[in-house]
Amino acid sequence: MQTYIEANKQRFLDELLDLLRIPSVSANPQFKGDMRRCAEAVRDAILKAGADHAEICETEGHPIVYGQKIIDPSLPTVLVYGHYDVQPADPYELWHSPPFEPVIKNERIYARGSCDDKGQFYMHIKALETMVQTGTLTCNVKIMIEGEEEVGSDHLGAFVRANKEKLKADVILISDTSIIANDVPSIEVGLRGLTYLEVEVVGANRDLHSGVYGGAVANPINVLCEMIASLKDENGHITIPGFYDKAIELTVAERQLMNEAPFDLAEYKRDLGIDDVQGEAGYTSIERTSIRPTLDVNGIWGGYIGEGAKTVLPSKAYAKISMRLVPNQHNDEILALFTQHFLSIAPPSVKVTVKPHHGGLPYIMLTDSVEYAAAEMAMQEAWGGKAVIPTRGGGSIPIVALFEQELGLKSILMGFGLDIDALHSPNESYGLFNFYKGIETIPLFFKHYAALKK
Ligand code: BES
Ligand code: MN
Ligand code: MN
Repeated sequence: MQTYIEANKQRFLDELLDLLRIPSVSANPQFKGDMRRCAEAVRDAILKAGADHAEICETEGHPIVYGQKIIDPSLPTVLVYGHYDVQPADPYELWHSPPFEPVIKNERIYARGSCDDKGQFYMHIKALETMVQTGTLTCNVKIMIEGEEEVGSDHLGAFVRANKEKLKADVILISDTSIIANDVPSIEVGLRGLTYLEVEVVGANRDLHSGVYGGAVANPINVLCEMIASLKDENGHITIPGFYDKAIELTVAERQLMNEAPFDLAEYKRDLGIDDVQGEAGYTSIERTSIRPTLDVNGIWGGYIGEGAKTVLPSKAYAKISMRLVPNQHNDEILALFTQHFLSIAPPSVKVTVKPHHGGLPYIMLTDSVEYAAAEMAMQEAWGGKAVIPTRGGGSIPIVALFEQELGLKSILMGFGLDIDALHSPNESYGLFNFYKGIETIPLFFKHYAALKK
């Protein structure tokens, strides 16, 4: 197996670079044609890897790619999930090389989607090829690569509900998360949920002269800032009534254990160019980014932002706000709590509306399962016997909770990224080490999973 990977290393990489050249940005309708082109390329790649069948499944949004290789119905079936869509590359001027013209520098692939998630799901396609070519495939494989993960997977739920038989499997395997470090293998056993929304604050019926009216009529931007500021207290606790009611608190022992994971605060600060971290009082940085919920403004706008100065009292102000959720918070309940609270704190001088965007439930898996054991054994073997650490991830993959609800399946989050990969940021990258380590580890998961399921 290792020999096959070694012999085909360069081709594997060249193929990935071709995929990275397609600007498959799901959020922007301008790239609709590229999205389809990308889906076709993924379908062809799955077929070329040795699948019996691969197809493009239409949805009301961007298409889903599905493929399978059934070698023996009595063997366990692994359903691989990934996403071929990427985040917008903006702001383009901050990239050191164009986002859709991949370059290799310092043993890393620089391109939008290199890690999230093209580089990672492509490892599965190349792992499949490797298993087929070396006659080592031990499970049936189903592959579903969607095109709307970065915009909330709006149409995947309906697809899953309508295709339960087709997607029937024993476990879901996903590479769309990170490890602690290249010499510290880890598996994410939790994901945070998400409530994403937009607020609008409207004052007067038109922009006003800030001298003639300023001081007497509400400035929606000032009001919005005050309202947002009041959503957290001096300890960084979120002030929305009922927000924490259902959030599960970890035990002292659980917290102690998770804080034993390697984490270098000085290095963390250096990497981000900050002098200090911040956050909810009483919790470490590891905890703040995994087991605690958050509230963040993702964007805020209104008024005059052109050249020079314009003395204006704007009529409208906007913000996009996200809340990351932990088990057992429910995104719909949190949306309702936020909305009720936000409207209640609005002064009568403005009109406020809250517009929901997407959301998703948090996810947690137990480490005493066959699935986890197989993933742990695979990583341990690929890392030459190193202990594998279970971690709680801070990101969200909302569809994972839905897979559990609709298909009754657990997802193994065997991702190979690193925090430094700059997902969603300019200059996203993915290490060559990580790409090849993934291709090496995935067949080991199949091997151990088949053996444990016997
Ligand atoms: N792959 C990420 C999620 C992720 C990243 C999990 C790093 C763990 C570690 C995924 O593509 C993503 O960006 N998800 C979005 C949510 C979605 C609804 C837009 C997120 O977390 O913001
Ligand atoms: Mn992703
Ligand atoms: Mn992403």
